[in-house]
Amino acid sequence: MDRLRTDSVLLDPLTREDYGWLFVLYADPEVMRYIGHGPRTEEESRKNLDWLLDHGERFSFGYWVLRDAATRRRLGGAVLMRRKPDSPVELGFMLAREAWGRGLATQVAQALVSHAFADLQLPELQAFTQVENAASAAVLRKAGLRDAGLCPGPYGGIDRRFELKRDDWLLQRSFSDKLPDAR
Ligand SMILES: CC(C)(COP(=O)(O)OP(=O)(O)OC[C@H]1O[C@@H](n2cnc3c(N)ncnc32)[C@H](O)[C@@H]1OP(=O)(O)O)[C@@H](O)C(=O)NCCC(=O)NCCS
Repeated sequence: MDRLRTDSVLLDPLTREDYGWLFVLYADPEVMRYIGHGPRTEEESRKNLDWLLDHGERFSFGYWVLRDAATRRRLGGAVLMRRKPDSPVELGFMLAREAWGRGLATQVAQALVSHAFADLQLPELQAFTQVENAASAAVLRKAGLRDAGLCPGPYGGIDRRFELKRDDWLLQRSFSDKLPDAR
């Protein structure tokens, strides 16, 4: 997995040294309000992180730990993952509460969309958000994903599914390259 970065955030591939910090993040009820079945026990988090670590070793993508580019303090995590061998790659992200509201998730989502299509040459991406999770939906829209409507989500509920195909991303890029410079 590549190390990535945005203006404000470093994306470092997950290591076992990150587990302790992530156990605390995954146990925060506010952060986990719209994710899966809510806060996770340490055992549940470890199982999930072990799976993601293995995913990163098998493919060239998986889970990145997000750090403040200026201080290197951990901010959260983001993922490109294939839940099942035949399912499209899924984008996801979560930030610790103190990092919310600064545009950081949008930066990270845009960086992972570019990485997925420009570097990894994936044909498409998808993402799921619980219907009430307006902030997550806003981030996905700003990263160029399209609302594909409601459908059964990965945890058994009805979620909003977002998607973006590589060809449409290339079109978005060529269109934005042609926009006059607003400055
Ligand atoms: C979702 C999350 C990653 C957003 O992170 P963030 O860095 O605060 O997001 P950004 O600042 O890049 O953008 C958030 C956008 O959502 C909007 N937003 C935030 N809260 C909102 C709300 N309650 N209702 C509507 N829009 C909201 C913001 O206005 C912003 O849009 P704008 O730039 O057009 O104004 C963060 O809140 C989080 O980690 N939540 C918990 C984990 C989670 O739910 N992850 C997603 C799982 S699918």
